[in-house]
Amino acid sequence: MERVYLNKIGEHVGKEVEIKGWLYNKRSSGRIQFLIIRDGTDLIQGVLVRDEVPTEVFEAAKTLTQESSLIVRGVVHEDERSVSGYEMTITDLEIVQIAEEYPITPKEHGVDFLLDRRHLWLRSQKQHAVMLVRNEIIKASRRFFDDRDFILMDAPILTPAACEGTTTLFETDYFEEKAYLSQSGQLYMEAAAMAFGKVYCFGPTFRAEKSKTRRHLMEFWMIEPEVAFADMEDNMQLQEDYVCYIVQQVLQNRRKELEILERDISKLEAVVAPFPRISYDEALEILRKNGVEKEWGEDLGGGDETIIANQFDRPVFVHRYPTEIKAFYMKPDPERPEVVLGSDLLAPEGYGEIIGGGERISDPELIMQRLREHNLPEEDYAWYLDLRRYGTVPHSGFGMGLERAVSWICGLSHLREAIPFPRLINRLYP
Ligand code: 4AD
Ligand code: MG
Repeated sequence: MERVYLNKIGEHVGKEVEIKGWLYNKRSSGRIQFLIIRDGTDLIQGVLVRDEVPTEVFEAAKTLTQESSLIVRGVVHEDERSVSGYEMTITDLEIVQIAEEYPITPKEHGVDFLLDRRHLWLRSQKQHAVMLVRNEIIKASRRFFDDRDFILMDAPILTPAACEGTTTLFETDYFEEKAYLSQSGQLYMEAAAMAFGKVYCFGPTFRAEKSKTRRHLMEFWMIEPEVAFADMEDNMQLQEDYVCYIVQQVLQNRRKELEILERDISKLEAVVAPFPRISYDEALEILRKNGVEKEWGEDLGGGDETIIANQFDRPVFVHRYPTEIKAFYMKPDPERPEVVLGSDLLAPEGYGEIIGGGERISDPELIMQRLREHNLPEEDYAWYLDLRRYGTVPHSGFGMGLERAVSWICGLSHLREAIPFPRLINRLYP
């Protein structure tokens, strides 16, 4: 008998097949038992009728507890009313293990209780749906950059120097030296772009964020393209194409998961080009009109981002932030050096910044001066300065925080559910 996966069950209607999985839930009406079975790909309702199966099979089913592992055989039917649109009339059942009393029950649990059991919580339907959307975004990202002939270049995780400021560095011993967990692959992608033209990296990045917010993880994944001879406009165009693509792919391939998550799909359907582009100065103006007075030069906080994003039904670029508050590598606008040719992309519905990026400094003198202004030791960046000495060119890139995108697209209230095993300020377990 053929063993099938539930996400392909539709190809087996009318046939007798085997399913290997776990008991998600069950109910019984005495004569009939309904087993909701999951196999990692989907759920199905299995039906056992007392008078139609051997007594031992019917009795064995009664002993099944939540999350017991099992193998069932039976015939597949279409059934609109059931969880997956299909149902199985079970004729045979093999128990792999009767699970101990499972801690996560269909009733409501607190978040800490669930996070302590993240290794089990991942089996729940909503968490499962989030991970499938995450996987879809990753696949779409790879496809997007592959199709445009970007080369995937892996950046190192152990690094000798900071990319995004020294306050959020995780430090570790590296034999006689100090090393830091990477905050961003960008600096290495700049080197790679000079070697390959168009590159991207996709890897874990680390920030010792000392504040507890719903938008910050200590460990998150970032997709970071970098393009030689691209300016800020090219960079925003690439971001717009990319974000539209991943949203489209999720809408096309993971609609069912969005429905499980009760996501307002119309909000995602509104995500089409062109995205509005406003300057930092205009952003301050919007804030002022909404009763928030900011001094020119102050950074935008999460609440400010929400006010700005709420003016639009799709992601909005905020560009030309004050040079003072941005990273050392950002290129000042030649016409107005007090602002940089960088941008943040703010997601709608209060999700805030999902992308940061911009044009990099290509001038050797200026980059050295900026390092000094940021108190960054020149010798640590000698290799980076080489990129400005041997055929320097204008170049741009950006980084999208994967969990920020997952959280927005899924409509989650906190980043912790957007990654399989979140690392939070007070949590390193499991
Ligand atoms: O704006 P950031 O700090 O930019 C960079 O790291 C650049 N070097 C990227 C580049 O140009 N290649 O971070 C980029 C993105 C943010 O927009 C956000 O989506 C995400 O990374 N991010 C975080 N996500 C989760 N938890 C955190 N603590 C994050 N910090 C940044
Ligand atoms: Mg940023």
